[in-house]
Amino acid sequence: MFCYSAMLFIPISILINANGPGISSPDLKTAAYVSDNIGNRFGIVPQEEAKYVGSDICLHCHKKMMNGENNKLAEQYRLSADVFSGTAHVSTSINAIKSPGKIVAQFTSDSPLQLSQIKFVIGAGRGEQRYCDASFKMLPFRWNVISEKWVPQTIVDAAKECMACHSTGYNINTVKWNEPGVTCEACHGPGSLHAANGDKTKILNPKNLSYERQAMVCGQCHSDGTDMTGGHPFPIEFHPGDDLNKVYIIEKRDKGAKYSELISSKHIENEVACTVCHAPHGSVEGIQHQLTKPVNELCMECHNDKTPSEHAPDAPAGSTCATCHMPGGSHRFAIP
Ligand code: HEC
Ligand code: HEC
Ligand code: HEC
Ligand code: HEC
Ligand code: HEC
Ligand code: HEC
Ligand code: HEC
Repeated sequence: MFCYSAMLFIPISILINANGPGISSPDLKTAAYVSDNIGNRFGIVPQEEAKYVGSDICLHCHKKMMNGENNKLAEQYRLSADVFSGTAHVSTSINAIKSPGKIVAQFTSDSPLQLSQIKFVIGAGRGEQRYCDASFKMLPFRWNVISEKWVPQTIVDAAKECMACHSTGYNINTVKWNEPGVTCEACHGPGSLHAANGDKTKILNPKNLSYERQAMVCGQCHSDGTDMTGGHPFPIEFHPGDDLNKVYIIEKRDKGAKYSELISSKHIENEVACTVCHAPHGSVEGIQHQLTKPVNELCMECHNDKTPSEHAPDAPAGSTCATCHMPGGSHRFAIP
């Protein structure tokens, strides 16, 4: 079984390769190129209902490299493709045949799984990775990155149970996605109308949403809950900007997914939502967890009366604000 993305992206990668990775062809330098040719080449034309086009198309205009004299984009709209492609989001599911280097498991001749069985990978490899065969059936062992061991894994149909949150443009009816990994349109919504000519009014900038709706963009995946039919552990028919509560019964939890925890915290009551602390396109080198700043600096931006030496003089060496207020990564931000 092939997913949409593989088929849709073959012509685009040929196009990019033909012109070199540096986008040196004069044609490709301008937004106008994409606007004139996108529809002809890929069948993407403005339409009532926007469609998913995939991140390669977004990056044609938005990547940092495109700052030559013909660039029409202001600095604020530029994205570093390198920073973005380094996020766990982009690699949270990958085709093992195309990117075997992203498999983090170690194989020996008596491993319960062999590399040749793996056709699709779920998980960027921070804590663990799970593996599928060519029909997206989960293979019976997963790899734990921390213990460096194989662990038994329940066999499920990943296309039906997992990919809604591990891909972009997932369609519940066809059980297919537009692109593996969490990419541009997972947070900005389908972008064909905007990609046709860069019209700003045809794409969602989450910055323009209320803090609740902004958090819901992330909460569509970072939450525990069930859809309205009770049949899926993820929302269906959600688009960024929508009210998640209309399509999803979300559990508030003391310990669970980050959104489920955050909505039980004082922070959300005070309008401190995900992107206050997280850089959605990836944080700069050396800062973990896609944070906008190193932890202490970030917290003290608002809690500036809480210098670590005065507030927590007995804290063990190397502690941060998160050590005591985010045990196990908790987003309840509780008082210990
Ligand atoms: C044809 C070139 C082009 C393509 C392709 C393109 N963009 Fe844009 N994008 C622009 C331009 C130009 C602007 C700034 C418009 C302005 O300031 O009026 C922009 C602005 C934006 C904004 C900010 C909107 C706002 O209201 O602040 C977002 C978000 C965005 N683009 C996302 C995307 C995504 C996601 C894709 C892929 C689906 C994409 N873009 C594809 C040219 C493009
Ligand atoms: C389409 C689903 C989806 C959406 C939307 C989404 N995420 Fe994620 N996010 C994931 C998945 C899946 C992972 C796990 C990646 C992995 O390790 O495989 C993840 C991982 C992360 C991580 C850990 C990355 C790291 O490097 O430590 C952060 C932080 C994060 N997401 C924040 C956000 C924020 C903030 C938003 C909203 C602006 C958001 N996510 C929107 C699915 C999503
Ligand atoms: C409701 C959305 C959702 C569904 C459904 C979902 N995931 Fe995830 N998954 C996430 C998010 C969000 C993260 C990142 C969690 C975090 O870091 O807090 C994640 C993380 C992961 C990771 C990386 C964990 C790590 O520590 O490195 C793996 C592997 C994974 N999921 C596999 C699966 C599998 C297999 C399924 C189906 C059985 C599945 N997921 C279903 C949202 C989902
Ligand atoms: C995990 C969610 C997520 C992903 C994936 C994502 N974005 Fe964004 N993007 C956001 C959020 C949230 C904002 C608003 C940032 C803010 O509040 O400052 C934003 C803002 C933007 C802006 C406007 C910049 C500005 O200063 O207002 C552009 C342009 C943009 N994104 C393009 C893209 C493109 C192109 C991709 C894919 C290559 C992408 N984004 C992937 C969440 C995401
Ligand atoms: C007040 C700041 C703040 C807010 C708001 C916030 N986070 Fe975080 N987040 C952090 C910090 C700090 C860490 C790193 C914690 C640590 O060092 O243990 C983190 C870690 C994470 C991780 C990574 C966990 C891992 O395994 O690497 C994910 C995923 C995440 N946040 C998602 C979200 C989402 C989704 C939202 C909104 C629902 C959100 N965060 C809101 C500060 C915040
Ligand atoms: C954008 C501002 C902002 C940032 C950044 C921020 N906070 Fe807060 N925080 C608040 C506000 C506002 C409150 C509510 C204050 C109140 O209730 O008096 C709060 C409350 C708290 C509380 C008290 C919770 C309770 O139940 O009483 C803790 C603990 C806390 N924050 C920890 C953190 C940590 C840790 C970080 C960094 C990861 C952080 N905050 C980052 C604004 C912020
Ligand atoms: C060694 C553990 C520890 C560390 C590290 C720590 N805290 Fe606390 N924090 C506490 C305890 C215990 C309380 C409750 C008693 C109190 O108020 O002093 C608290 C209370 C708070 C409160 C809520 C009460 C109030 O006075 O408003 C905030 C906000 C807070 N801490 C922020 C921070 C920030 C920001 C950092 C990092 C600079 C930090 N804490 C580091 C243990 C810690």
